Amino acid sequence: MDHFTYKNGHLFAEDVALSEIAENVGTPFYAYSTATLTRHYNVFADALNELNALICFAVKANSNQAVIKTLANLGAGADVVSGGELMRALKAGIPAHKIVFSGVGKTDDEIQLALSSGIKQINVESEPELDRINLVATDMGTVANVTLRVNPDVDAKTHEKISTGKLENKFGIEWTRVGDVYQRATDMAGVNIRGLSMHIGSQLLDLQPFHDAYTRAADMVAELRNAGLSVEVLDIGGGLGIPYFEDNETEAPTPEAYAQVVRETLSDVGVELVLEPGRMIAGNSGILVSRVIYVKEGSTRTFLIADAGMNDLIRPTLYSAFHKIIPEKEPAQDAELIDVDVVGPICETGDTFAKGRKMAKVEAGDLLVMRTAGAYGAVQSNTYNTRALIPEVMVNGDKYVIVRERVCIDDIIALDRVPDWLDG
Ligand code: LLP
Repeated sequence: MDHFTYKNGHLFAEDVALSEIAENVGTPFYAYSTATLTRHYNVFADALNELNALICFAVKANSNQAVIKTLANLGAGADVVSGGELMRALKAGIPAHKIVFSGVGKTDDEIQLALSSGIKQINVESEPELDRINLVATDMGTVANVTLRVNPDVDAKTHEKISTGKLENKFGIEWTRVGDVYQRATDMAGVNIRGLSMHIGSQLLDLQPFHDAYTRAADMVAELRNAGLSVEVLDIGGGLGIPYFEDNETEAPTPEAYAQVVRETLSDVGVELVLEPGRMIAGNSGILVSRVIYVKEGSTRTFLIADAGMNDLIRPTLYSAFHKIIPEKEPAQDAELIDVDVVGPICETGDTFAKGRKMAKVEAGDLLVMRTAGAYGAVQSNTYNTRALIPEVMVNGDKYVIVRERVCIDDIIALDRVPDWLDG
């Protein structure tokens, strides 16, 4: 359920016409719906109610401060994977004691920032990183709260680029090594080892891998405790998939079904649970609005050439991801559907949002809306082809605000420096 609906033949975000935003802000732009964001957070949180769980929104999915703050006000914590994300989360009002720090390559500076900010925990991804954290914390005269991220060797059955739980993936400490490493961490003066963490992948549409991984986690907690070690926290990551096709809402498991897996596998373990959902919270609450520049009729295909490109939304080209695309003007019920390729203006064939998509006819100048773009959309945008970073807009009822300005081309070019030796 979301709050992007047609009213009087035009698409609205809550009570604001997207055509009005397009006119005032220019295209392309991302738009987020506060009501949708709130709803998704609440549905997820309600499903996990009674599980002693802290929900840490994976800020990588959408790190706009307006989004983070909306979630902070609902009680969310944050999962961050860089010093930059940590700074954003703090700035947006997430209390430090609700922030967890994941990621395979934390630098000394990032570890220092995490320790001086007093975050809840660092999820340690390797033995060398554990040693480094111990060293940095000792130098600072402090003790780092950590969990060990376990690589459980479970196939998440998702796209290979977003699978993280197999031994061939770079993430986490191999599960067979965790007992020894945990023991070693217990003896470190700069480390307070609090438990385990894991994250097996993203956009999981099958709950079985979660079941397998969480069962393994429960067994590992039991083994550690049998060895006399204390385990207080279990961070089970994010990864729950969402429906992108929409005509088929059953494509993805519900938060309730996911919560049932968590209950079945972990409710008796007696740990504080941490979850790190990203896409599930933010995905459906955002759209990308673009204008058709040209309709190009080829002999074999019709191309809708949009003013958004793969630099603005890279998911289709990077993961062959499907995003539903709908016109801003509501098509008539009986409108004829034609096959179109929706492409961007970038000089790469991969700059294609959809191929052979059945859509009602649109014309140059019309607005197109790419759905389910609130997660891993704006955050993965870039300036390829020297294109501006597009603005993000947040809607709340009948109000909207630009929550990230367009980063204009002059400013991008002004970052270059031309060496003296090239002059004259
Ligand atoms: N926790 C950790 C440690 C992660 O690495 C991730 C995502 C999450 C939580 C959140 O996962 P989610 O609930 O959003 O599935 N750019 C890709 C997705 C990359 C996911 C990376 N890690 C995409 O556009 O599909």
